Amino acid sequence: MCGIIGIVGTVSVQERLIESLKRLEYRGYDSAGVAGFTKQGVERRRAAGKLKNLEAVLAKDPLRATVGIGHTRWATHGPPTEGNAHPHRAGRVTLVHNGIIENFAELKAALAARGRTFSTDTDTEVVAQLLDQELETKPPLEAFKATLDQLRGAFALVVMIDGEEGMILGARRGPPLVVGYGDGEMFLGSDALGLGPFTNRIAYLEDGDFVAIDHATARIFDDAGHPVERAVQTVAQSATLMEKGNYRHFMEKEIHDQPDACQHTLSAYIDPVSTRFAPPSGLDLSAFDRIQIVACGTASYAGQIARYAFERLAGLPCDVEVASEFRYREPAVGPKTLAVAVSQSGETADTLAALRWCKAQGLTTAALVNVHGSTMAREADLLLPTHAGPEIGVASTKAFTSQVAALTALAATAARQRGRIDAAEEARVARMLLEAPRLIAEANAAEDHIRTLAPELARARDVLYLGRGAMFPLALEGALKLKEISYIHAEGYAAGELKHGPIALIDEATPVIVIAPSDDLFEKTISNMSEVAARGGPIVLITDAEGARHAPEGARVIVGPTCDPLVAPLVYAPPIQLLAYYVAVQKGADVDQPRNLAKSVTVE
Ligand code: G6P
Repeated sequence: MCGIIGIVGTVSVQERLIESLKRLEYRGYDSAGVAGFTKQGVERRRAAGKLKNLEAVLAKDPLRATVGIGHTRWATHGPPTEGNAHPHRAGRVTLVHNGIIENFAELKAALAARGRTFSTDTDTEVVAQLLDQELETKPPLEAFKATLDQLRGAFALVVMIDGEEGMILGARRGPPLVVGYGDGEMFLGSDALGLGPFTNRIAYLEDGDFVAIDHATARIFDDAGHPVERAVQTVAQSATLMEKGNYRHFMEKEIHDQPDACQHTLSAYIDPVSTRFAPPSGLDLSAFDRIQIVACGTASYAGQIARYAFERLAGLPCDVEVASEFRYREPAVGPKTLAVAVSQSGETADTLAALRWCKAQGLTTAALVNVHGSTMAREADLLLPTHAGPEIGVASTKAFTSQVAALTALAATAARQRGRIDAAEEARVARMLLEAPRLIAEANAAEDHIRTLAPELARARDVLYLGRGAMFPLALEGALKLKEISYIHAEGYAAGELKHGPIALIDEATPVIVIAPSDDLFEKTISNMSEVAARGGPIVLITDAEGARHAPEGARVIVGPTCDPLVAPLVYAPPIQLLAYYVAVQKGADVDQPRNLAKSVTVE
């Protein structure tokens, strides 16, 4: 989703705005713009497409200012043209916005009735016009508050007002906005990562807060307009780092980061010395009779994988639902349900709403998130961290495996706390999980072979992914990865469902990727593969050494490490990610910023 930045600085702002916007690129965008207070008044530069287009505009026509705002836009209202790109301007107001103003149509009609004319299709321009109207009768902060009070929806705003050269305003209702504290300089931004080059001293605005920054201070107010203090935290250096190292893409790097990411994550759930599970926040899973996981996209597949472990290992009923459906379904939830929101960003609008709904029902809520200062982390009763580090590639990889690792550790914790396993079995499972990072690294060894399979797959129009047991949600995730970054249509199916429909699609041009390390279901999956082979479907089998011996003739085989089924979803994730990655590279696609996708979806 959109990235926003505001800088009240002392040196040229345009390079800093671009540097920050580059760090926010990962959120997904399709146009960009900046504005600053120059000697001639407020000036804007905007461009459709990638930041390099905006840089080209700035190279021809520099923005000579030290105070300014910037924006990467992920289009919602109106196409991604230069005209619809932020910052938007009306009278004395110039602003950037992330989110949606739900009542923009009625506000627009009222403003138009008062003679205001609009030059864009966006909901954002309405806010600029409204604030400008309020400024006719009120001083800036009062006018800003009066404007915010009239807006419905979820949004973050950063605003400049003509005549207020040393000040930038910000507001947060829904999507995050952080305040950065520098040395004689102050910043606003969508996240700490975006402010990384300037400061790591950050205050997270609470929902409903608004703020005025100048060179030295941030005056923060709650939604009622009362002055409030928000703690300034020094965020870990790692939270502001974003380096690709020697990798071509962040996604490639993040795939290779997975052994470390999982190890760091597991260390928050398992004591490696005693090999005992020690859940964060002292969570006692014996107090619950059901787990309800809510999540979106890849995170929901991590939840689906974990369901197998919660039920098989711990005998604890576990439901997993995409948050966008859950929140509106009026689900029946018992009082002893633990609601777990799984989210990399901790900001996904639907997941956050589902979490809030569960809280309102009186359930104990947990946020299993990678961004520990995120809204979900702060609002849930319990924080269950993943430690994947910043994930920049839009298509989630290391955040996904870290979620699976954390959830599997929680399932084992539940098994122990509920008396389903004894201390010896606990130690065995703990050791097995602690071994997983090494096996994940081993799985990466198939990379060269996977690369050679990409050209053939890149020619496909449709691809099917099959799996059984916990490999079924991994098949769903494999199909999602391929769709997201290579734009090839792909579907994941439970292998047993093949003959109930998808088999009609099988022909020589439809590759079938089968994820099946040898386990007690392997023979059944072999039969499904034979059904595909009999119809001429090209097969790629992702399995272990034992499984490879049973591959149908002509199948391409990717061999991964031998492992216990409990950790197989972790160990077999890298091959499916690498496969999608190399197919996308083969197709020349924009791997880290796939078209139309956003990293953190802060609108419904
Ligand atoms: C977007 C991203 C996905 C991600 C999903 C949920 O769709 O493109 O990669 O899985 O949001 O994001 P979250 O931050 O809640 O895990």
